[in-house]
Amino acid sequence: MSLILAIESSCDEMSAAILRDKRNLLANVVASQIDIHKQYGGVVPEIASRKHVESVAAVLREAFRTAGVKPEELDAVAVTKGPGLVGSLHVGMQAAKTLALALNVPFIGVHHIAGHIYANELVEDIRYPALALVVSGGHTELVYMKHEFSFEIIGETFDDAIGEAYDKVGRVLGLPYPGGPVLDKMAHEGEPTYDLPRPLDDGSFNFSFSGLKSAVINLKHNADQRGETINAENLAASFQEVAMDTIAKKALHAAREMGVRDIIVAGGVSANKGLREKMSGQSDVRVMFPPMKYCTDNAAMIAAAAKVMYDHKQFTTLDLAVRPHFDLEAESIGEEV
Ligand code: KG4
Ligand code: ZN
Repeated sequence: MSLILAIESSCDEMSAAILRDKRNLLANVVASQIDIHKQYGGVVPEIASRKHVESVAAVLREAFRTAGVKPEELDAVAVTKGPGLVGSLHVGMQAAKTLALALNVPFIGVHHIAGHIYANELVEDIRYPALALVVSGGHTELVYMKHEFSFEIIGETFDDAIGEAYDKVGRVLGLPYPGGPVLDKMAHEGEPTYDLPRPLDDGSFNFSFSGLKSAVINLKHNADQRGETINAENLAASFQEVAMDTIAKKALHAAREMGVRDIIVAGGVSANKGLREKMSGQSDVRVMFPPMKYCTDNAAMIAAAAKVMYDHKQFTTLDLAVRPHFDLEAESIGEEV
């Protein structure tokens, strides 16, 4: 039995969740700042952290109110310790430390990507060995998980993360931030008529999206210079087709090479309809996608990862520092990594 409060504030969302045991999610409050950052075309870190300071108390109060629990009932407090924006991380970290200290309960520092992966366990147990396909604004990785909470990165992007490539292409096409969801929608309204380069089309598990992104951007600029119009829906469909086909093929290839039982798709881009279509219908491996509401950043996913850490007694001291960059592999529990 456990009652865990988790706080996530690594980027532009301030979120607090309360999770009883493994999947009884009592609250998951998310205060998004997208409308503020939209006008700048991307997240402004200084504004993000200032807004977090303004919203953290209200978000926590709302989480306790929705869950109908009192702070004294908590068994542990968890927080995203990184990676992310340093100022944003600090706000969640200070709030979590204060609560853990005042309540005298165990304190758990969670890797943001472990959170994205374990969001899937809010619905169903992961079967090991598993392969996590992490696709977000900051990461594109294939992570082999031999057992629970063990992480081995077997492939990653050499340049842009896939969400970053979506957002940059979206910006050049004049779409609002973040470009990912809008491009995904447009892709479904168009046809893949444009011929774009297929990135790192080899047998490796690594990715590269800067060439593909630049090809789309150049195509748009050249058309603008010649006074030609492009069909934005078709360009979105062409970009999505190449990007998601590459990701899906590599993930499925890796899953078969590694002999895993489950593929877990994780991170904001796991909301992508094109990716969901490409990955579905496999007969030899189960592909798990988190429910849409747990795809982009939220504290429920941090609570889900914290629950695993709680069961393994992976507690930390209150001098924990935020880590803007750090390695997921170092978070593994157990020796068999
Ligand atoms: O995981 P997340 O919320 O934040 C990070 O940890 O990075 O992911 C945000 C990213 C953004 O780049 C956003 O454009 C992208 O996920 N994204 C999508 C979709 N929904 C969100 N990209 C493609 N298709 C989508 N449907
Ligand atoms: Zn994220």
